[in-house]
Amino acid sequence: MSITVDPLTAASDAVAELLEATPAPPRRRGTLLVVDDEEGPRQSLRVIFKDDYDLLMAEDGPTAIDLVQKNEIDVAVLDIRMAGMSGIEVLERIKYVNPNIEAIMMTAFETTDTIRQALRLRACDYINKPFDIATIRAAVGQAMQRRTLESEIHSSAEKVQELLTELQNQRIEEQIAKTRGDIYASIIHDINGPLTVISGFVQVLNQRLGRSTRLELEDLEFIKDRLRIIARQVGNCIEISRRYLGFLRRQSDEATAPRVGVNQLLHDLEQLVRVHPSLVENEFAVTPMAEDAAVKINGTDLIQILLNLTVNAFQCAPLPHWVKISGQVLHAPLDLTKFKDGPHDRLLNIEGLNNTAPLVKFCVQDNGPGIPPEVLPKIFQPYFTTKGPRQGTGLGLNIVQRLVKEGNGALHVQTQIGSGTTFTIYLPGAHIGK
Ligand SMILES: Nc1ncnc2c1ncn2[C@@H]1O[C@H](COP(=O)(O)OP(=O)(O)OP(=O)(O)O)[C@@H](O)[C@H]1O
Ligand SMILES: [Mg+2]
Repeated sequence: MSITVDPLTAASDAVAELLEATPAPPRRRGTLLVVDDEEGPRQSLRVIFKDDYDLLMAEDGPTAIDLVQKNEIDVAVLDIRMAGMSGIEVLERIKYVNPNIEAIMMTAFETTDTIRQALRLRACDYINKPFDIATIRAAVGQAMQRRTLESEIHSSAEKVQELLTELQNQRIEEQIAKTRGDIYASIIHDINGPLTVISGFVQVLNQRLGRSTRLELEDLEFIKDRLRIIARQVGNCIEISRRYLGFLRRQSDEATAPRVGVNQLLHDLEQLVRVHPSLVENEFAVTPMAEDAAVKINGTDLIQILLNLTVNAFQCAPLPHWVKISGQVLHAPLDLTKFKDGPHDRLLNIEGLNNTAPLVKFCVQDNGPGIPPEVLPKIFQPYFTTKGPRQGTGLGLNIVQRLVKEGNGALHVQTQIGSGTTFTIYLPGAHIGK
């Protein structure tokens, strides 16, 4: 049984879980600080508010500041005129310790200047002394409400931020998991080719050895030759997995900008294809370049690109047909305006091409059935295949696409029903020996 999880559902589940796991903090009673050097008003305020809030009393500035430092105070009621430190000074100090405290100033016969000063220091309100109960209740009630609202907004903002971070982490995790899955699938896909060759040769060796009781000289030559091919293919497998796993660990070797000689590589490719099981009875020709050049791409990557395209070209029709591979150095940048997507043309990474001469152009051409216009836009999608379930994974062209992009190259498919298909790759090149 397989269980599939939609990433979006998983993300929203995680948010719901997080919300459940972080219940709203229990509401505490507000804390009110009363600062007045006169006993009378202090006591009246105590009587008025003792049932509604936690109360703290200070008879002078220093005590008030000390209380603010040690307690979480929501609202302070400050008398402006006090012996020693004035209410304005206390206001300034307590705002310095905790800028969120809402302060209500009590004035007797202060000038408007003093009141203005208090408001500049962010007192939220002022009331005249002697005060009536309704006025002071309303002022403190409103200040408390503003504090609660502010702290709720603050904690909601924090919670939203927490959720966003969580979501982002989740997305990154998903992205990594997805890339990881793709890469593992790519390794298996690409290693499959060399493994098929290896397994074919091992079978041949088995048959040859199974028949003989002792080894003749020609047997020995035969075995040596096949072992050489097997060793090369094993090397290919190791190199492929090392490349992909290196990518997983983000060990890009761009800094050391690998270069490979094209004609040597085309020769290696031909050797590989000659023993490939998908060749069957098809005709196959590799034309070396008249003028050799180097390409700025890892050799295994380029072999993977060309091999995937060649195997596709062999597999596009059951009847024998031909497949041709050729290379050419271009001494001028491409005229990109000539390239257009259409029913017979598909372009990849034209905008990402490092379009500086010299460029090297590779063509893989077949005279197979061609690709129908409704299929053409889908061929680079991962897992898209028109082959049977046991014949194709639909990953080949997706790998080609990634490797071409990584190599800062571009790709052009041109196809015609009944005439065949040509895949052309453009890669940044270099003159040999430079
Ligand atoms: N030269 C071609 N001629 C006609 N169709 C092609 C050609 N190359 C690719 N295609 C089409 O593109 C599809 C996707 O190719 P891709 O290499 O990604 O997967 P695949 O070949 O089906 O599977 P796999 O590569 O895993 O064996 C193919 O199934 C085929 O329909
Ligand atoms: Mg393929």
